[in-house]
Amino acid sequence: MLRKDDFVLLLSEKRTYLVQKSHGKLHTEFGVINLTKIKKYGQSIRTHKGVLFLVVKPTLSDMMKKLKRMPQVVTAKDAAAIVAHVGIRPGWKCVDAGAGSAFLALMIGNVVGPRGKVVSYESNKKFAEVAKQNVKKCGLEKIVKIKNKPVEKMNEKGLDLITLDIRNVDQYIEKMFKALKPGGWLVVYSPYIEQVISARKVMQTVGFAHITTKEVIEREWQSDYFSRPKTRMLGHTGFLTFARKVSKKIPIKKENG
Ligand SMILES: C[S@@+](CC[C@H](N)C(=O)[O-])C[C@H]1O[C@@H](n2cnc3c(N)ncnc32)[C@H](O)[C@@H]1O
Repeated sequence: MLRKDDFVLLLSEKRTYLVQKSHGKLHTEFGVINLTKIKKYGQSIRTHKGVLFLVVKPTLSDMMKKLKRMPQVVTAKDAAAIVAHVGIRPGWKCVDAGAGSAFLALMIGNVVGPRGKVVSYESNKKFAEVAKQNVKKCGLEKIVKIKNKPVEKMNEKGLDLITLDIRNVDQYIEKMFKALKPGGWLVVYSPYIEQVISARKVMQTVGFAHITTKEVIEREWQSDYFSRPKTRMLGHTGFLTFARKVSKKIPIKKENG
C-alpha cells in the first residue's frame, strides 16, 4: 500500500511523469490522471481520455532528475566509473567531500545500501541544506549523512572509500590516507589537469599505490531513419584519479645527502 507522500513514476510509451501521490490530480497532454486511485506499484491507470500508464517505483536516477542542483554535480558517467573501477560493494563505509548537491554521495549510497554508510562533508551551509533535502527526497537518509562541516574536521576511520570533489585536495591527501583501511580507495575528481598532476605527486609521497587517472567520454547517438552521434555532447566534466592504500605506513622522507 502506497503512502500519500510516496513518489510514483507514470510510464507510457511516449512520456513519463514523476509525481507524489499527494498531488491528487495530474493534468497531462493525454488527459487527467486521478492519483488517489493508485494503490500499489506495478498497477496500470488510465487518464480520463483512456490513455494507459504503468505505475512504477522510481529508481534513484528517476529521482535525481527532480533534485535541486547547486554547484557543478558529478554526472552519472563519472559516478558509474568510480563504482566500477573500485568495485564498491554493499556494506562499504565511505566519506565524500564536498557534498554539493549530494549527487555523487547519493549514487554511492545507492550501491552501499542499508548495511553501508556515506558521510558527506559540505562546508557551505546553504549547499548542505540542499544536499540534505535531496537525500531525503531520494529516501536514502539512513545511508547518506550530510555533515555541514569542512572535510578538515572529518573524524571517520577504517574507511573503504573516500571521494573528494573539492579544490586544493593536496592538503587533505595525507589525512585521507590515515582514514582509509588497508586496501581502501581514494578517488579525486578534478576539472583541471594541473590539479591531477599535483594530486598524483602528493599521493605518491604519502604512500598510495596503483594510482590511475581516467577521463570518461560519453557520446549519445540519435537513431531515427539514419543513425549517427548527436551533434551536441558534453565535452568535458572532470578527471578521475584513483589511488589505493596498500601499506599501513606513510613512507619516511629521505633527508638529502
Ligand atoms: C563541485 S561541488 C561538489 C559536487 C558534488 N560532488 C555533487 O556531485 O553534487 C564542490 C563542493 O565542495 C564544497 N567544499 C569546498 N571546500 C570544502 C571543504 N574543505 N570541505 C567540505 N566541503 C567543501 C563546496 O562548497 C562545494 O559545494
